[in-house]
Amino acid sequence: MRNVTKDNITETFLSYFDKQTDPRLVELMESLSRHLHAFAIETKLTHDEWTHGLEILRRAGNITTPERDEFVLLSDVLGLSSLVDMINSSEGGTSSSVLGPFHISDSPEMELGADLKGKHPGELILVQGQVRDVAGNPIAGATLDIWQTAPNGLYSSQDPDQEMYEFHALFTSDENGNYRFTTAKPVVYTVPIDGPVGDILKATGRHPWRPSHLHYIIKAPGFRTLVTEVFPDDDPYLDQDTVFGVREDLIMSYIPEAAEKFPNTGFALSGNVTEDYLRVDFDLVLQPNK
Ligand code: BEZ
Ligand code: FE
Repeated sequence: MRNVTKDNITETFLSYFDKQTDPRLVELMESLSRHLHAFAIETKLTHDEWTHGLEILRRAGNITTPERDEFVLLSDVLGLSSLVDMINSSEGGTSSSVLGPFHISDSPEMELGADLKGKHPGELILVQGQVRDVAGNPIAGATLDIWQTAPNGLYSSQDPDQEMYEFHALFTSDENGNYRFTTAKPVVYTVPIDGPVGDILKATGRHPWRPSHLHYIIKAPGFRTLVTEVFPDDDPYLDQDTVFGVREDLIMSYIPEAAEKFPNTGFALSGNVTEDYLRVDFDLVLQPNK
């Protein structure tokens, strides 16, 4: 096309794809170009605004490292990560939720009933539940990769005072599909705000807080891997998670328990709990592999 105009630029762009044989790639590029061009036309995007947008992307690239991916964070605060999650999760199993940037591979394998809290301050919580399939059958031998912040609101990779694997653990469900552990009560924390994503939140008047949560990745042969999070029902940010991760079925309650009620066996802390604690019962349902 030698006379490219506002009205034919999208068609012209797409005509450059006529030798492309991957139909999915063509579909994605077609939709992306239509929406991107329509966005510029609809908003009458100025040169200054467009340059500012490119500057944000350039800064995101500069601040990104293997431990800190600003593009993932950008996708998270725009709601795109959660939207992709929801589009790709089918009915019947526990909802998925954002992975976030703080998962560490190769977390240490721990016995069921292990304690992650150690000497950290904060309230003790006992977390237990069952992994099962959509028909209600227990799934034995599922691996549960669990991680959270310390009570100071920092993940181990953000905090020089924590060992690499603090508050990261790998459990295997028992013959009845059950899992259990103790840890410190999760706290609210902010997503990283020292980069361009933080500037976007500030400029748009948004807060950077996430409701407190525990992260889970559950894997079992024959089932779809579930990446999810669990949130307490009394959290002040439950209705305004800055990365849109909360789903109704991921909300749990803390059940207050007296110290004497702590199980006598089955936990690393059995026999040593002298203060009241909170109990969380949370079951997880896995979808079969497609
Ligand atoms: C997290 O929960 O770890 C997280 C998720 C998205 C962005 C930042 C942190
Ligand atoms: Fe998190």
